[in-house]
Amino acid sequence: MNIENIVTPALIVQKSTFESNAERMSALLAGSSLKLRPHYKSHKCAAIAHQQIQSGAIGMTCAKLEEALDLADSGIQDILIANQITDASKISRLAYLAKACRLTVCVDNEDNVAELEKAAALADSTVYCLVEYEIGMERCGVSSKEAVLSLAKRIDGCPHLVFDGIQAYAGHISHMVSEEERAQETQKNKEKIQELIRYLKENHVLPRVLSGGSTGTSVIKAKEALYTELQAGSYLFMDATYSALELPFESSLFILCTVVSVSDTIIVVDAGVKSCGVDQGMPVPYGFSVSKIVASEEHLQLHMPSKQLKVGEKVLLIPAHCCSTVNLHDRIYLLDGDQVVDRFLITARGAFH
Ligand SMILES: Cc1ncc(COP(=O)(O)O)c(C=O)c1O
Repeated sequence: MNIENIVTPALIVQKSTFESNAERMSALLAGSSLKLRPHYKSHKCAAIAHQQIQSGAIGMTCAKLEEALDLADSGIQDILIANQITDASKISRLAYLAKACRLTVCVDNEDNVAELEKAAALADSTVYCLVEYEIGMERCGVSSKEAVLSLAKRIDGCPHLVFDGIQAYAGHISHMVSEEERAQETQKNKEKIQELIRYLKENHVLPRVLSGGSTGTSVIKAKEALYTELQAGSYLFMDATYSALELPFESSLFILCTVVSVSDTIIVVDAGVKSCGVDQGMPVPYGFSVSKIVASEEHLQLHMPSKQLKVGEKVLLIPAHCCSTVNLHDRIYLLDGDQVVDRFLITARGAFH
């Protein structure tokens, strides 16, 4: 099948760029103590997760319990839920899932630790825990070293839980365009985390794992020699937001759409907010420029001062945010040039619990 035969709107990925992004990440981490634990939210395709494990990833990171269920169902054996799971019904599903794989979850609250222990005891499973340390993103996590120690000791005292280490994710740094600024902010956090680790060791608590980092901080983290796991997700596909940074990865993911209407200054295509994640802005047309884009559910109006496209023509867009775009689709076509060579099913599409 050829690109012209794909029914639009559709997601396509260019094989050569997709593969070179994977190779560049492997090369970046080669010889460093930092191991890749890629974030599933960026592609949500079990088949791609298996490729990542085969290329050396030590396990997968995910955001949601349902993503973890999907990964485990496909046979992935080592899964980190990089979030807190606090709903009682989800905690019991998590505890049973921990019988099927090595499952780690983040915690930042003592009552949550108690609930996890109760559920794991009932399921007769072992749940691994990372204490989340808040390092500037102001999302989840505890912000004092005393609170980390107290949670670690609390976990240690639970027969069905294992204190495995720390998650410290600085998402507010990932998209800083200036590399110098990203490096400076990362350095400030490095000192804070080193102080935490010293304090934990003085108190006889040894974190085995330090997990975090992103595509935006991958180059810095590879040199930093501090973290044990890198949770980068977007590096395989990239997107228009990450393209503004100087990173060793290129856009491999595109939204393929068709021109449905043409007027003097506006070209309308058949992809709207139901096929393009717009939480980080509008998608960017590939190979031509527009003065403005207006989005509705099923359409994008591309404002173009001089008409360049005809009704029925195919157009490629670079998503502004690959992760939220993937979540809107059922499949991603893998292309070698114009030829479709495979199709990835987005097995965790819409897994929002
Ligand atoms: C917990 C966590 N880890 C890692 C990432 C990094 O993902 P990416 O490499 O796609 O920026 C994210 C992104 O939101 C995240 O929430």
